[in-house]
Amino acid sequence: MKLLEYTKHIKSKVDEYMSKKVIGPINVKKLYDASYHLIGAGGKRLRPTLVVLGARIAGAQEDQVIPAAASVELMHTFSLVHDDIMDRDEYRRGVPTVHKLWGEPLAILAGDLLFAKAYEALLDVEQYGIPPDRIVEATKILTWIAVTLAEGQTLDMNFEERMDVSEEEYLEMIEKKTAAMFKGSLMIGAILGGGAKETVKKLGEFGRLTGIAFQIQDDILGIIGDEKVLGKPVWSDLREGKKTIIIIHALNNATADQRKQILSVLGRRDASLDELKQVAGILKSLGSIDYAIGKAKEYTMKALSILESITTSDSEAKDMLKEMAMFIIKRRY
Ligand code: IPE
Ligand code: IPE
Ligand code: MG
Ligand code: MG
Repeated sequence: MKLLEYTKHIKSKVDEYMSKKVIGPINVKKLYDASYHLIGAGGKRLRPTLVVLGARIAGAQEDQVIPAAASVELMHTFSLVHDDIMDRDEYRRGVPTVHKLWGEPLAILAGDLLFAKAYEALLDVEQYGIPPDRIVEATKILTWIAVTLAEGQTLDMNFEERMDVSEEEYLEMIEKKTAAMFKGSLMIGAILGGGAKETVKKLGEFGRLTGIAFQIQDDILGIIGDEKVLGKPVWSDLREGKKTIIIIHALNNATADQRKQILSVLGRRDASLDELKQVAGILKSLGSIDYAIGKAKEYTMKALSILESITTSDSEAKDMLKEMAMFIIKRRY
């Protein structure tokens, strides 16, 4: 099967599972509605697909790890709900964000619920014949993802206030806020599937590298993306003063005038579309977008070379991971 067809196939299984997990008493219906809102709105389901492909490469059956695949998607959804509060974004997956519709207090609770449900779903794999020792190991990884994500999101916010963030600091930040989830998803799949230590490690490294490329691409789309295709606001990163690799490259290469212009828009929520487009023009002319494209490619190439060294009897799963790495840097959504 081709990757995109396969993600749809996994999406239907994982979504069915999540719809049964995110359900509760009628007197707290709005909590469950708010929690299910983004799940029902769409999304690519890349992380659950990584869990399943990791498990297949390790030698397990897809159906044994569907709850684990749902688990990482629930954790991802939690992070999106809270991220949109932090980033003050009003659209995601083509619909209004949770806090926009239900208010921040309930959106915080919806995130909390999804976070807890992620653990509940992972522990469900016990009923699918996965040995307890593997479940313990996988739970450690899920916890590592959550801790690392929180650290990464903190750095992301701290950097809004700073104008001297280095590329190295940026890479550490995205490795934590985004790549950890990619790495962890593959590791959880591989561990539950009973993969050898070396396989788990290599798949994790493939996930880390593709995760970094994924976030660089996300930062590119935050400037040159099409809002309708993307389903979330373009320009938000500039308005929030995010230190993306593009901004860092531009600030390091701008003339005094260009720098002044960039800084006059960066972090201003009320920046006009004209001002934002002007800055985007500067970023392009400085080669900052091309620089980011090149970096994403570099990480993808490294990821592919690691993937090559993994031995498995499921060559279809391996081919789909290859496609995943390429999709991540070509995607427009
Ligand atoms: C969005 O991730 C959050 C980032 C890490 C940039 P995705 O682009 O995978 O979001 P969905 O799940 O497809 O909506
Ligand atoms: C991505 O955050 C990482 C998360 C924890 C959600 P971003 O703020 O960069 O991603 P988008 O653009 O809102 O999806
Ligand atoms: Mg954010
Ligand atoms: Mg955001």
